[in-house]
Amino acid sequence: MTTYDASPYLSGNFAPVLEEQTAFDLPVVGAIPDELSGRFLRNGPNPREVLDLKAHHWFFGEGMVHGLRLGDGRARWYRNRYVGTVDAGGPNTSIIGHGGKTLAIVEAGAKPVELDDELNPIGTTDLGGLPSGFTAHPKLDPLTGELHAVCYHWPDQVDKVHYVVVSPDGVVTKSIAVSTPTMPMIHDMALTQSYGAVFDLPVAVDFEMAMGGSPFPLRWFHDYEARIGLVPRSATTEGDVIWCEIDPCFAYHPMNSYDADDGTVVVDICEYDTMFDRDRNGPFRDSLPRLARWTIDPKTAKVHRETLDDAVHEFPRVADAVSTLPYRYGYTAGGEAETGKWFHTTIKRDMKTGATETRFYGTHCEVGEPVFVAKEHGTSEDDGWLMVLVYDADRDTTDFVILDATDIAGDPVATIELPQRVPHGFHGNWVADR
Ligand SMILES: [Fe+2]
Repeated sequence: MTTYDASPYLSGNFAPVLEEQTAFDLPVVGAIPDELSGRFLRNGPNPREVLDLKAHHWFFGEGMVHGLRLGDGRARWYRNRYVGTVDAGGPNTSIIGHGGKTLAIVEAGAKPVELDDELNPIGTTDLGGLPSGFTAHPKLDPLTGELHAVCYHWPDQVDKVHYVVVSPDGVVTKSIAVSTPTMPMIHDMALTQSYGAVFDLPVAVDFEMAMGGSPFPLRWFHDYEARIGLVPRSATTEGDVIWCEIDPCFAYHPMNSYDADDGTVVVDICEYDTMFDRDRNGPFRDSLPRLARWTIDPKTAKVHRETLDDAVHEFPRVADAVSTLPYRYGYTAGGEAETGKWFHTTIKRDMKTGATETRFYGTHCEVGEPVFVAKEHGTSEDDGWLMVLVYDADRDTTDFVILDATDIAGDPVATIELPQRVPHGFHGNWVADR
């Protein structure tokens, strides 16, 4: 068996799994709520082969989706499937349900791949008119049902990104080209009821490295003029974009964003000091992410940054219903630098009081992104469940854990032991049948 100790992003639970498996009626500890009828889907890189261990980057590798079907209080099946084929690896970063379709997605050029209900690839789609690639982080507007996305297509386009809107039934309805001075890596975006935000931050393509054949030609640029582009929701051309200065820093994922009463845009976000400056294999060895608030003022074109919590926070999520709106609760994966366990805790943060509630699974456990699922007739913003993949290094397997989001430190609602470990990957979603 191959070992990948050369890179921390290939060892332990970062290592790929070797088989596509299918299992039915998995054992459950606790009780799966009857209301949970649908599929939990999680995408991540699962390289079929690593040719250069030293140069391997966590973001490389063919996409593999792990899926768990729940219904009638049972864990009906587990499947893991490559998104693409041996010849063409599929998108490896997230998977969403939108417009009745299941779409595996990634940034930087590859088109979404549609999967059937049992995770078999159907084919690529351009959503009726994507101008370039898509993104791993389209933002849902819960009031309109639209998806908003900032897309780029390296290396076919090196001087622009596209701001794209996708209708509730999954068709591109708007696309605005937005010029950039070079080709920044833009992983995610912020969306409020008034604006979308383009993050033009100091990680960009190094064209010399690219020409020299570097498999990962992205790096931190110390002299980069970092900026955030506010794209009014009514914008029709890039002339409508308001560019706002920001101190050099980096972020992948906003927790949420909204319009404040004073006309500013509030973006709560997992923020790094630098990215891909020293660590050429993944995101976590330059600096670890803290929770920050960016207050963007379209009138002064400036961004005010403040740290909300110095503790490690990544993979932030909120309830879909409060996305783009003022909100109370955010959920993250937490960890610490000292132990080298980057993520071992699920955190719920009350954004109003600053209070946090945590669930620590044990020193031998590592966790993924907490996915919030609202109860159908919930009575508060946090009235629902958190779905979390928890890797147990002692047993070398992964549990799917359902927590009561109003009491994440309490006993799990249900724990389902999966037939194999789910390697650390990126993003997942609950795709309800209803
Ligand atoms: Fe992401």
